[in-house]
Amino acid sequence: MNISPDFLELRIANPLILASGILGTTGASLAAAAKNGAGAVTSKSAWLNRHDGHPNPTVLDLGGGNLLNAVGLPHGGIEEARTEFENFRKLSEAPLFASIAANNFEEFGETAKAVAELKPDLIELNISCPNVEDEFGKPFACSVQDATKATRIVKKAIGKIPLSIKLSPNVENIVEIARAAEAAGADAITAINTVGPGMAIDIEIAEPILANRVGGLSGPAIRPLAIRAVFEIFKAVKIPIIGTGGISNGRDAIEMMEAGASLVGIGSAAKNGTEIFRKIAAEIEKWCESHGISEISDLIGKTHKTKIQV
Ligand code: DHB
Repeated sequence: MNISPDFLELRIANPLILASGILGTTGASLAAAAKNGAGAVTSKSAWLNRHDGHPNPTVLDLGGGNLLNAVGLPHGGIEEARTEFENFRKLSEAPLFASIAANNFEEFGETAKAVAELKPDLIELNISCPNVEDEFGKPFACSVQDATKATRIVKKAIGKIPLSIKLSPNVENIVEIARAAEAAGADAITAINTVGPGMAIDIEIAEPILANRVGGLSGPAIRPLAIRAVFEIFKAVKIPIIGTGGISNGRDAIEMMEAGASLVGIGSAAKNGTEIFRKIAAEIEKWCESHGISEISDLIGKTHKTKIQV
């Protein structure tokens, strides 16, 4: 069967994408994900200049595959991105999606321009990290005006490289932000980033466990939120969606595609090793074969074609 998805004219072997933030720090770790079956990989959000993250502890394993994290988007700056992208290219031919982060609009433009020169296959704009606040105290993805402005500035800076906007679920209406991103020139939507922020407390010392006190929730617990967001966004926009949030097996990935995702991001489920990509790809293929589906793209948005509509 053909499990190569239809996505912005990129050649991608299968719909499974390494989501940003997990394992995407070095060229070698990105290449390992591709070698182990990821159709494309997303690097950890790059900053123009060195950006220190939060002190430890930054990640808490909540059990059941769920994580609470506030790493604080650490990154060495554009020269580190250049080196790691070059290392990746030596090891893999899979498409490379470059996530970028910044503190303000001007810096988003400069970062986007600098990263575009490294020729990634797509740029993903991380306007939704719950742990790094902009000057107004909220991520850009929380307002139509800010998401619009950030999208326009970055789109202008990166020329022909496709742009995906990574949205936050921590908003009143994610659909209106997705619509605004599309209207401002986005080529795709990545939904969703982590949920929250949330908190966990060490009861013996009555202190929050994460050094940042709060962090973003990821893993299977957030999957229904991601599925709902992708389902709603699919109805509202024409651009393709990278559906991310709590996917950990073939069944989950198919659910995400049926909701409307063209590509499926895997983050938390890859924390114990990249072999998960090959396993999920095999599960998708097996399911499709047993259901007489020969084209993976037939799954995309299938829920919207059934009789029962929400
Ligand atoms: C971090 C960044 C994110 O985009 C996110 O969803 C959660 C955590 C971080 O680096 O702290």
